[in-house]
Amino acid sequence: MADPARLIVLISGNGSNLQALIDAIAAGTLNARIVLVVSNRREAYGLQRAAHAGIPTLYFPLRPYRDGQRTRQDYDADLAARLLPYQADLIVMAGWMHIFSNHFLQYFPRRVINLHPALPSVFNGTHAIERAFEAFQNGEINHSGCIVHYAVPEVDEGEVIVQARVPFLPNDTLETFAARMHEAEHQILVQAVRMLTQRR
Ligand code: GRF
Repeated sequence: MADPARLIVLISGNGSNLQALIDAIAAGTLNARIVLVVSNRREAYGLQRAAHAGIPTLYFPLRPYRDGQRTRQDYDADLAARLLPYQADLIVMAGWMHIFSNHFLQYFPRRVINLHPALPSVFNGTHAIERAFEAFQNGEINHSGCIVHYAVPEVDEGEVIVQARVPFLPNDTLETFAARMHEAEHQILVQAVRMLTQRR
């Protein structure tokens, strides 16, 4: 078996998708090693999940840049410089709430992927699950979905790697639909990482 692929996972919150990767690696169904977890939010619960799994973490907030009159591009370039030495095969944005410019992406061509809880170009941006549920309640749609795509500077755009359809059920609440969406996300993220790392 090939050496485990080196992953860096970027998070900003709960980290259930990070946990899905950790669990797949522990179960032996994903030949990879998470060499670093990065968060731009100190209170992200995902940092505790990483620590519990013995994975090194980095807290890299944007605020000092804002306060220091430095730019988002400076932030992106400095973060890239911090990550380059890890020689990651793949950088996984799993609930990372920051849009990267090319000041970051240029250092990792076709090696940065993002997870988004909507189908391509339908509900780009934040609160995609809530917006889809509202459209369902208005009778405009009967399903949504989720995607893993290559990251580009345009939010939630970029070539799709894996996608899944997530139907609405008649008695759905936002909570039941969101739970079904997150379950689908966990599956496609592990699938996408497995596919891309097996190819390398
Ligand atoms: C996911 O729904 C992801 O698509 C979105 O943020 C959520 C993160 O969930 N960008 P978690 O922190 O991995 O539980």
